[in-house]
Amino acid sequence: MTLRAVVTGVGHYLPERVVENAEFEKSLDTTDEWIRSRSGIERRHFAAPDETTSSMATAAARAALEMAGTDVQDVDAVVLATSTADLTFPSAATMVQAQLGMKTGFAFDIQAVCAGFVFALSNANALILSGQARRVLVIGAETFSRIMDWTDRSTCVLFGDGAGAVLLEAQDGDGTAQDRGILSTDLNSDGSHRDLLYVDGGVSTGTTGYLRMQGNQVFRHAVSKLAATATTAMERAGVSDGDIDWIVPHQANIRIIEGTAKKLGLPMEQVVVTVQDHGNTSAASIPLALSVAHARGQIKRGDLLVTEAIGGGLAWGAVVLRW
Ligand code: UT7
Repeated sequence: MTLRAVVTGVGHYLPERVVENAEFEKSLDTTDEWIRSRSGIERRHFAAPDETTSSMATAAARAALEMAGTDVQDVDAVVLATSTADLTFPSAATMVQAQLGMKTGFAFDIQAVCAGFVFALSNANALILSGQARRVLVIGAETFSRIMDWTDRSTCVLFGDGAGAVLLEAQDGDGTAQDRGILSTDLNSDGSHRDLLYVDGGVSTGTTGYLRMQGNQVFRHAVSKLAATATTAMERAGVSDGDIDWIVPHQANIRIIEGTAKKLGLPMEQVVVTVQDHGNTSAASIPLALSVAHARGQIKRGDLLVTEAIGGGLAWGAVVLRW
């Protein structure tokens, strides 16, 4: 018998306000055509003034719990991937814990920017495999609209807000790649690339700061690192590209998504794509894509998935799981 961390619920939350590319044409030297052709983004959601990362994360978590039919008091831990926590501290995860009315267990944030959800899944998997928790809410939630420089056309048109969540539960498997649940993970970072993507604020500056990105430099790293980490994770799981049903990639840029799928030898028919509707929601993008793909009927119980993401740090990684 092998312990596995199995997804038993998934859900998401998107703020009501939808902003189409054309809206940026009014205030910036940009066009809908440029944004679409360079990134694949058509629209994104922005949080209302009274919405926060923790409030959106809570809504997504409730949806995941409802699908799983699990009472919040039976959850042992909340692991929240975000770079836009409501406050410097306490963690947004503990705020979610309080908003859910969870009286026991523990909660903490994970900060690996756009790769955050992959890092959170891997850590939650480790909590389950080591026996420290049996049920873990794993959430990705972001309000990147609060760290945008609205005068910088090279970044502010790319990002959006939202949240997605899964409930991971300990279940017994037989130790083969046919098991449901997380089969392997691969995490990487290289801090020497700090200047490619960062926020120029924080406790050392006394400001919240704005996101700064050398987009084309990040792009240069993305496809090769994403294909490499996905390949490593597949090897660890004992599966090959022919076994994969769906790639669920971080949704930053359709050209990166297409390039990575091509390198992995999979057609776009097997790739979950939501970037056109959400923009880049950083750590929220993969759980949002999982939830939307589940609702669309794309990913079904028993399907083999590979998720991959890269972002600031640089930090990147992949998880192979059977749905
Ligand atoms: O999720 C975390 C990881 N982040 C990513 O994965 C993002 C990776 N990077 C990208 O997605 C792409 O690099 C971008 C979408 C950010 C940019 O696409 P690109 O093809 O790499 O364009 P570029 O940065 O090389 O810029 C091309 C041109 C520049 O003009 P010049 O220097 O060629 O005259 C930019 O000034 O496009 C210009 N430009 C714009 N033009 C119209 C930059 N932003 C805009 C804009 N509208 N919004």
